[in-house]
Amino acid sequence: MRMPSDLVAAFAPGRVNLIGEHTDYNAGLALPFATAAGITVQGRVLSDPRRFEVRALDLGEDDSFGIDVSEPGEGWRAYVRGAVGELQRAGLPLRGARLEIRGDLPRGSGLSSSAALEVAVCLAAAELADAASQLPGPAELARICSRIEHRWAGSQSGLLDQLASLCGADGEAVLIDFRSLAMRHVPLVLDDHRLVTLDSGEAHANATSGYNERREQCEQACELLGVSSLRDAGLDAAAGLPGPLPRRVRHVICENERVEQAVAALERRDWAALGRLLDASHASLRDCYEVSTPAVEEAVARLKAAGALGARLIGGGFGGHVLGLLPPDVDLPAGAMEVSPGKGARLL
Ligand code: GLA
Repeated sequence: MRMPSDLVAAFAPGRVNLIGEHTDYNAGLALPFATAAGITVQGRVLSDPRRFEVRALDLGEDDSFGIDVSEPGEGWRAYVRGAVGELQRAGLPLRGARLEIRGDLPRGSGLSSSAALEVAVCLAAAELADAASQLPGPAELARICSRIEHRWAGSQSGLLDQLASLCGADGEAVLIDFRSLAMRHVPLVLDDHRLVTLDSGEAHANATSGYNERREQCEQACELLGVSSLRDAGLDAAAGLPGPLPRRVRHVICENERVEQAVAALERRDWAALGRLLDASHASLRDCYEVSTPAVEEAVARLKAAGALGARLIGGGFGGHVLGLLPPDVDLPAGAMEVSPGKGARLL
């Protein structure tokens, strides 16, 4: 039997969602990719097997808690404590450790820094207890991580961020069907076009934005329509729903179609069509789903003015980064960052 490793490191990437927003918790489709940027957690076993000491190196902040932790703590601590709590609840053996966290994903950026942190802590903590082989596969591990969001961070988010972080691959986006959790890698060959992100300058937080309310509205629409998810909803039936619900349902139904059209556009290398789909996704998120803000609109407008074929908000909305598709020979606007698909989460 192998002895528990006393020094381990795990890396989990953030994600950019090419298209398919607010579809994950509606059993729909999305096409995210893992970024090269992410979070690294380095761990070393402690002599006290029931204690965790954690240092967030970039923030210069610390945490310390027992293995039976139940309080989420402030900010980033909820994700680390939540990972320990939820792994235990899932029956994984754990042992006390000192964890050091560093990363190059801005927090509250809409690039899934929280999912990257959860996934990296889960991988490192399991390996430190020599239990990495007992970790479930990506779908179940993503569910464990989403329980960290739900129970410890107060965000009723879906599985998009965690699956993208776990299943990313070099040069490829991942087409995810959230009804079956079937995944297919789709090569992201862009013929010298570039995908770029631009910060709207507004921090986003799913737990305190309108995110949870949007999810509740989708559940309410399902109940009124008598369907188990909006994947099974029809536009005609949805038109008779009260308040904002017809618009919410329209977004989800049409966004699923746009994901399929985006995969087809990528496969035939039709960049103009892909750009139009990004624009249409953004318009729907702004007008039907109502998750844009003036700062997000300004960032999208800046990318379009710089020559982007399409640009849209990514992630939950209400701030964060926006994404644009730039044709060859167009200069990156100030502050924009090129992004390309990288490998999924792993032990280092
Ligand atoms: C956030 C959530 C995801 C997903 C997106 C919107 O990133 O964490 O689960 O719902 O918003 O597509």
